[in-house]
Amino acid sequence: MELSYRVREIKPSPTLTLDAKAKALIEKGEDIVSFGAGEPDFPTPKSASEEGKISIDKGKTKYTAVDGIPELKKAAVRKFKDFFGVEYKESECIVSPGAKMAIYEFLFSVVDDGDEVIILSPYWVSYPDMVKMVGGVPRFVETKPENGFKPNPKDIADALTPRTKCIILNFPCNPTGAVAQPDLFEEIAEILKNKDIFVLSDEIYGTMIYDGKFESFAKFLREKTVVIWGMSKTYSMTGWRIGFAFGPEKIISAMKKVQGQTTSNPTSVSQYAAVGALQREDEFVKTTTSEFKKRRDLIYSLLAKIEGIKCVKPEGAFYIFPEVSAFLKGQTTEALSDFLLDKKKVLVIPGEGFGAPGFIRLSFALSEEKIKEGIRRIQDGLQEFSNK
Ligand SMILES: Cc1ncc(COP(=O)(O)O)c(C=O)c1O
Repeated sequence: MELSYRVREIKPSPTLTLDAKAKALIEKGEDIVSFGAGEPDFPTPKSASEEGKISIDKGKTKYTAVDGIPELKKAAVRKFKDFFGVEYKESECIVSPGAKMAIYEFLFSVVDDGDEVIILSPYWVSYPDMVKMVGGVPRFVETKPENGFKPNPKDIADALTPRTKCIILNFPCNPTGAVAQPDLFEEIAEILKNKDIFVLSDEIYGTMIYDGKFESFAKFLREKTVVIWGMSKTYSMTGWRIGFAFGPEKIISAMKKVQGQTTSNPTSVSQYAAVGALQREDEFVKTTTSEFKKRRDLIYSLLAKIEGIKCVKPEGAFYIFPEVSAFLKGQTTEALSDFLLDKKKVLVIPGEGFGAPGFIRLSFALSEEKIKEGIRRIQDGLQEFSNK
């Protein structure tokens, strides 16, 4: 008996696999410094946990509306406007069990077999596989470190074909930390404005900006754009699984249909917890963002001092994406990552999964002491690896 061709085509998420491996070693008592985490290290804010507990005590533990409880949609729409300056109606918003699910529902709703989806590389590991899961064909447009990992709009224009159905933008970017400035978004919108092409703008890191200015892509091409946001990163609520999509009613209603036939609704208790955080945790967002900025400065300055490493300073999110090809001597960053974990007890994520061999991704969602210790181990490990 064969499994489906669709599932045979896709790979497990490399980031989740490696992070789970490091967590298991830490649980066994090993002294691992993990730069693997795709999640903030801060605890979930108090208001969220409190509201979650209250909802359990009050028995708010049954099915909810498919697209989320009205209180949460209202709070999400309001907070999205506060942060990003774009106003949506509640009917233009869906709450999903994590942003990842919202992205999948969007792709399922707009992509037909053989349709092309443009993805900027380096990319978040899940986009190409999700596109394949819905029968689409990923088409990559490369961004380069010498341009700060920002796309050249001409490269996007050149990649469009009659089969292009959609483009995925992700700024601030996982894995590079690049942030597209408003003038770049404006140029991209200009290219797409008269085309039958949907835009998925994944702005899940949109509140984590350290330099320059970030504006939602919806400001530039609202009628074709679905924006993704969520509780995981901004509010340190990865395990609660609450994400949002904002966009034209026609697409949001289609996504709701998919959600209704798959997960039914996001977890009730998590939804109440999210209302608590959105209503009462502005200070949490400010303090954690400024903490991340300090760590960004630290990790960048430490990496920049290592001879042979080339590094772009991230402007947002909590990742840095140095190039380490000088140390590879024909080997892969997958081999380097295994070596660093085995020999130096430090986890970095290899670039291959992000479409960027020669690079490694480091998350700086860990304390300054751990960052210093981890970079010391990486520096030692790189020398040993290249002398093997
Ligand atoms: C770019 C990007 N989009 C979406 C997600 C998914 O977030 P969620 O935890 O809400 O599913 C992640 C998580 O790592 C991400 O990095």
